[in-house]
Amino acid sequence: MSNARILVIYYSHEGNTRFVAQTIAEAVGADLLELKPTKELRPQGLMKYAWGGGQVMMKTRPELQPLDRDPAAYDLLFIGTPVWAWNYAPPLRSFIHSARLSGKQVALFCCHGGDPSKTLPNMIKALEGNEVLGALDLRSPLDHREETARRAADWARGIAGE
Ligand SMILES: Cc1cc2nc3c(=O)[nH]c(=O)nc-3n(C[C@H](O)[C@H](O)[C@H](O)COP(=O)(O)O)c2cc1C
Repeated sequence: MSNARILVIYYSHEGNTRFVAQTIAEAVGADLLELKPTKELRPQGLMKYAWGGGQVMMKTRPELQPLDRDPAAYDLLFIGTPVWAWNYAPPLRSFIHSARLSGKQVALFCCHGGDPSKTLPNMIKALEGNEVLGALDLRSPLDHREETARRAADWARGIAGE
């Protein structure tokens, strides 16, 4: 797949998923698309979990800023999320719902603090109709930068056939 057009799509609240997304993009020569809600609160401490977990439980789909890349123009999509309340984060729900991807090759990754639970299977289900080439979960990437970068880059190169 050496001439494939590859896009890394991600949301990140605290930088871990962004770090992995940037690592993957660099490893396989991909473009980046960050999903940004139009209203992003920054609650601290336990409020953060109530705010984020509540949105997951309610299956909210926050409004996103206009996308600056068109996923339809790419052959392979890496899609990454932090794990929130044992699931993918709400901006991913917005994206998957509005983009209505089908017939794409996709590879999924998530960043978590120790319990990814069913995040990746849930994403695979939400992306039915696409070909899933791989799924990777990574624990606290910013606490293990070198090891995470190596794992993510090796995984991504394997998926992209490089
Ligand atoms: C609202 C909220 C809910 C979370 N729920 C989980 C969880 O269910 N399981 C887990 O392992 N980590 C959980 N975490 C930790 C994050 O998944 C982890 O810190 C991740 O690396 C954050 O990615 P980011 O820096 O890209 O936002 C949660 C964090 C937040 C803010």
